[in-house]
Amino acid sequence: MKIAVIGAGFVGSTTAQRLIERNLGEVVLYDIVEGLPQGKALDMMESAPILGFESRVVGTNDPKDLSGSALVVVTSGIARQPGMSRDDLLERNAGIVASVADHLREQAPQAIVIVVTNPVDILTHLTAVKVGTPKERILGMGGILDSSRFRHFIAMELGVAQADVDAMVLGGHGDDMLPLPRFATVNGVSIEALLSQEQIEKLVARTRDGGAEIVRHLKKGSAYYAPAAAITQMVESIVRDQRRLLPCSAWCSGQYGITGQFVGVPVILGREGVEKIVELPLSAAEMKELHTSSAHVASKIAQLQIAG
Ligand code: APR
Repeated sequence: MKIAVIGAGFVGSTTAQRLIERNLGEVVLYDIVEGLPQGKALDMMESAPILGFESRVVGTNDPKDLSGSALVVVTSGIARQPGMSRDDLLERNAGIVASVADHLREQAPQAIVIVVTNPVDILTHLTAVKVGTPKERILGMGGILDSSRFRHFIAMELGVAQADVDAMVLGGHGDDMLPLPRFATVNGVSIEALLSQEQIEKLVARTRDGGAEIVRHLKKGSAYYAPAAAITQMVESIVRDQRRLLPCSAWCSGQYGITGQFVGVPVILGREGVEKIVELPLSAAEMKELHTSSAHVASKIAQLQIAG
């Protein structure tokens, strides 16, 4: 399967690396900066004899090379600096993603698209409208990353194996995302039986701030190792038709009382994209928070004046 990764920066190149190392497809790494995708692709390929993977990656600045891609991952755009929210990236990144969407409409209109550029829920909407992708074939990456951060913090707090911790974070991939402690478990045991309310609240707050915490450390740029891992999990579920249940920004048409927008919800992800949106039995308070988050995303979409 041909997989295009748009943007050869930190997120895009780390994603390309993970995809080929897991033999998930033939990767085309595209960027507007001359030499950047070519150099990174060659560097990655020179690790193949040592690591033993069979997939290939090629770098390009020519949008025509995106032609025939079955799957596209959009990471082009600027990243956050300390003190910035994801929303602060909207204007600059909307322009970049819109120009990429023009190429996708011409070169790979049938592709399943995973949008990563922030603010992701809004730019997924923009891409869907501009490319004309059927709504079940386009998703945004956010929830898996936020959930992985939540899982990591829970594992650290309890001193248990990371793999034993499961959790869900729903809502927009922004400051009002919705970590769900009620659905977080350690090998089936609710974290509410293992942690105090105060501890849980601390972990929820750290999860919401998870991206900004990394930005404060890095001083310039934002996270990419965990984002690339989250993207890879989405790609793998699609390519291998795993039908994993993962929180992603997906088009809601009435689910959770949300209509006509992308927001983070649990989806079953398979060969055709979003096979199903799974509706969890949320409490009234959780539902209210989800609606606050989705209303925030809707207000930003209105700001961009994109229909669809
Ligand atoms: N077409 C293709 N690539 C582009 C375009 C464009 N029109 N405009 C910019 N780029 C490329 C840049 O040249 C750069 O190589 O996008 C890349 C972005 O890389 P980084 O600056 O390293 O940013 P990164 O950390 O990868 O984050 C990218 O992902 O997680 C999100 O919030 C993050 O929006 C940000 C995006």
